Amino acid sequence: MVLNFAHRGSLTEAPENTLPAMQKALDHNIRGIELDVQLTRDNKLVVIHDQELARFNKMFPGYVKDYTLKEIKQIDIGSSFSEEFTGVSLATLDEILEILPENILLNVEIKNIPIVYKGIEQAVTDCLKNHKFEDRVIVSSFDHEALKNFQELNPDIPIGLLFYYRLLKPWEYARYCGLDIYSIHPMQNWTDRKLIEECHSLGYKVFPYTVNSESRYEQLLDYGVDGVFSNNPDIFTKL
Ligand code: G3P
Ligand code: CA
Repeated sequence: MVLNFAHRGSLTEAPENTLPAMQKALDHNIRGIELDVQLTRDNKLVVIHDQELARFNKMFPGYVKDYTLKEIKQIDIGSSFSEEFTGVSLATLDEILEILPENILLNVEIKNIPIVYKGIEQAVTDCLKNHKFEDRVIVSSFDHEALKNFQELNPDIPIGLLFYYRLLKPWEYARYCGLDIYSIHPMQNWTDRKLIEECHSLGYKVFPYTVNSESRYEQLLDYGVDGVFSNNPDIFTKL
């Protein structure tokens, strides 16, 4: 079965990575949701893509790591999306795990580049365990050191290798990097039939990001992709 993920929730319908974005995503034909996590100054997990707040509220300079959770919860990030979402703040990972139904697979992406959050792997571990999410999560990161740390803590939770660049033989990297890799998450631009077949021959799933057009989605299905991340979950008409 193809595993399709709404990327940062449904980011065209609500502020990305927030609770409303997750709720909107659930109205679509998805199997999973992807989100990004980072740590506040007081080491709380918040769900946000950027390491800075400026894209969401220009009144708050600096980085997520500069603010406590209490401070972050008071920042309106919703009105930068639209007036309808005025007052919406960043969500904690806890808050999002509370509302996701049991049939939804979660992809937690640990954002750890260029700022390295000491202890983020343990924080993600604790949160997933508290919510009994260990059986319905894939943890991914562009920071493969973070994946190593996470796998040492959680040998049974699947991990996904994220790549941004056009690598030579990423499947060989996956094979020899010393981690037990479940899936490879390449940029969709570099994803072709050969990449998918080579990954499959070594037992890796392939989940490219970010696939927004139906024609590209159908092409990737023809190549045998295992699922995609999309900003446009309406393309998931074929499963
Ligand atoms: O996890 C897939 C995708 O979200 C990675 O890129 O920059 O959107 O977090 P980015
Ligand atoms: Ca992401």
